[in-house]
Amino acid sequence: MPDTTPSVKPASMRIAKLLARAGLCSRRDAERWIAEGRVSVNGRVLLSPALDVSDADRILVDGKPLPERERTRLWLYHKPKGLVTTARDPEGRPTVFAALPPELPRVVAVGRLDINTEGLLLLTNDGGLARVLELPATGWLRRYRVRVHGTVTPADLAKLGEGTTVDGVHYGPVEAALERVQGTNAWLVLGLREGKNREVKEVLGGLGLSVNRLIRISFGPFQLGDLAPGAVREIPRRILRDQIGAKLAAEAGLDFEAPLRNPAAAPPEGRSSKRPHARPPRSVGRSAAEHAGDGRPHRHGASGKPARAARPDRADAPRPSRRGPTRGPDSRR
Ligand code: URA
Repeated sequence: MPDTTPSVKPASMRIAKLLARAGLCSRRDAERWIAEGRVSVNGRVLLSPALDVSDADRILVDGKPLPERERTRLWLYHKPKGLVTTARDPEGRPTVFAALPPELPRVVAVGRLDINTEGLLLLTNDGGLARVLELPATGWLRRYRVRVHGTVTPADLAKLGEGTTVDGVHYGPVEAALERVQGTNAWLVLGLREGKNREVKEVLGGLGLSVNRLIRISFGPFQLGDLAPGAVREIPRRILRDQIGAKLAAEAGLDFEAPLRNPAAAPPEGRSSKRPHARPPRSVGRSAAEHAGDGRPHRHGASGKPARAARPDRADAPRPSRRGPTRGPDSRR
């Protein structure tokens, strides 16, 4: 009798993608590792990344099997200034990854912050999630608080909303609001979705302003809030799944069900007193001012006014105003 059992083929994907998914590195790093002869598949050292593989293949990196895939996880990290966002710096400068708490599993960063930029850096054990969140097409809003030196005019800031070209590079619309003037400096809040290299410095440089402090205060629905410099906080699974949404999760091939290697280290699943630092899903549609940086909707007080956003940075940085981009670009992710 013929065998009618349907054959189930494991899903295959490019080797670099699979290594990134395993949280080992970015796709670009994987391609470099392959070129360096560090990756083998089924006993043969790989010479080119042009290969589709699946979980059924025996893949080794530096002679070691890939780690078991854990469920997709995401952490908020308050990057202090002075650290580079790269695994290995050719100039030997201190890196974000060397500064992370040792109990964290292997993670990759969602994009990069410049060495002197502070604030929210998202970290994940899932290279697929990092890639999707970095894509300009995903368009999640990044908000920055910026201290600049120079003369700021409302007309100049308004111009940024139309997109701008600096030194031949085009930057998409940036919403910018003046918070306050402090001597020869001014504090601004900027909201942008593109995430090009040095975007804040370049667009403000185009207005003749030089940035002397730059703090990222949110990325999509995730906020820096009161996370201390150098601290890391995991987003609970339920909140992560809600915030990412089914469409992005499918696009990134996320897995929220795989077991954890150390379940005791994960944040509680149910309602908890731990502050998750994520806003409720988009459909709830609350404004930034209604979320005091801890991710939970804040009830209006007796005054009937919304609670104010927590200050993520130190004393000389102003609060977001109730007008301007704190509200504007935040109304969508
Ligand atoms: N824009 C910059 O200029 N630098 C950063 O680190 C992030 C955004």
